[in-house]
Amino acid sequence: MASSSTQKRVIGAEHVTDAHGRGLLQIEVLPGDIVTALARESAARLGVKLLDGPLPKPWVHRTDGATAMRRSLYRRSPRWVAPHAASAARAAKRFSKVALVGAGNVGCTIAQLAAHADISAQITLIDLVPGLAESIALDLNHAAGITRSAAIADGTTDLTHVHGADVVVVTAGRPRTPGMLRSDLIEINRRVIRRVADAIKENAPDAVVIVVTNPLDEMTVEMLNVTGFDRSKVLGMAGTLDSSRFRQALAQAASVACADVEAITLGSHGDEMAPIVSQARIKDRPLGVHLSAASINLSAEQAVAGGAEVVRLRKTGSAFIAPAYATIELLDHLRGARTGSVPVSVMLEGEYGINGVVLGVPCELGEQGLIRVEEITLDDSEKNSLNNAATAIEQRLASLK
Ligand code: LAC
Repeated sequence: MASSSTQKRVIGAEHVTDAHGRGLLQIEVLPGDIVTALARESAARLGVKLLDGPLPKPWVHRTDGATAMRRSLYRRSPRWVAPHAASAARAAKRFSKVALVGAGNVGCTIAQLAAHADISAQITLIDLVPGLAESIALDLNHAAGITRSAAIADGTTDLTHVHGADVVVVTAGRPRTPGMLRSDLIEINRRVIRRVADAIKENAPDAVVIVVTNPLDEMTVEMLNVTGFDRSKVLGMAGTLDSSRFRQALAQAASVACADVEAITLGSHGDEMAPIVSQARIKDRPLGVHLSAASINLSAEQAVAGGAEVVRLRKTGSAFIAPAYATIELLDHLRGARTGSVPVSVMLEGEYGINGVVLGVPCELGEQGLIRVEEITLDDSEKNSLNNAATAIEQRLASLK
């Protein structure tokens, strides 16, 4: 019921009962609020005080000792209210430091989202362009007076500042220009990744690394090779992005909310992407209940081509909003703010019958990175798509040697 809004509220008996159920001893009555007679009666009966506000904050969080004790002892009693999603997220780990290597649009947007969600005490942006990372960190810190974010951002050109990071997110490298395939960037971005990987190996040997640089699967292999890290520590971000695009395309085709769609993509972050139709659901029903085969195919194609479409429209640079959210989704899985499996590019060790190739598959993640690859049931054409993706990635990497 607490609100700084100037809107008049009607405080009814149900508000008093609700406040009492949450262990509150008082309700703030702001000028203009209407308190019903029943509310006053309930307040008197339940011992909840109706105090004329505005009151000094944070009055709203106080409970008496007996209520606190009752809550901890009788968690199953009807009085106990299950924590909602927001408080569950608060129980998740807050990183000490997240380092973002690359302060282009993707890195910059990840920094903003991370600061806003307060997922890390320190956010370090690193970019080789002098002043770029520093300026973004300063700009972000300037916003803290409004957002009240407790995260502190800093910027540098020095790669050794990955030191102490729980997670290093690597977005550094050249983006595509219109008409380019992600794989066209393999030579140039490989050099960038090698340099970054050396710095991570040296300065953040215990960090979990999330690779975002394209071509995603190949760059994840490069990161693994140069750092020599265990496969659990090196993750490629693509599946969360491609799955989001697939869900959005399906939602639009079926005229439903994105929240009604469950769907993932596996395979490569490229033309061999594998949107998984057999497991996808709209309002808990198979896709065919809501969409024709042609619409489903079109949605899958939109997921595969979504990134290129943004590049075509922008002309310089690639997508950054959805990629940044997709990276935050992985960070949230690592810190326990989200649970369940999530599509991530990891080095396969026999899962799905594939060995020694980095590929997008559903994974369970935790603070130390990959916990396990989940082997979901795929139909034959989806299994073929995964195998084709593995072969294509292997061939591209082999052609470099
Ligand atoms: C995309 C780029 C970032 O898919 O790979 O938008």
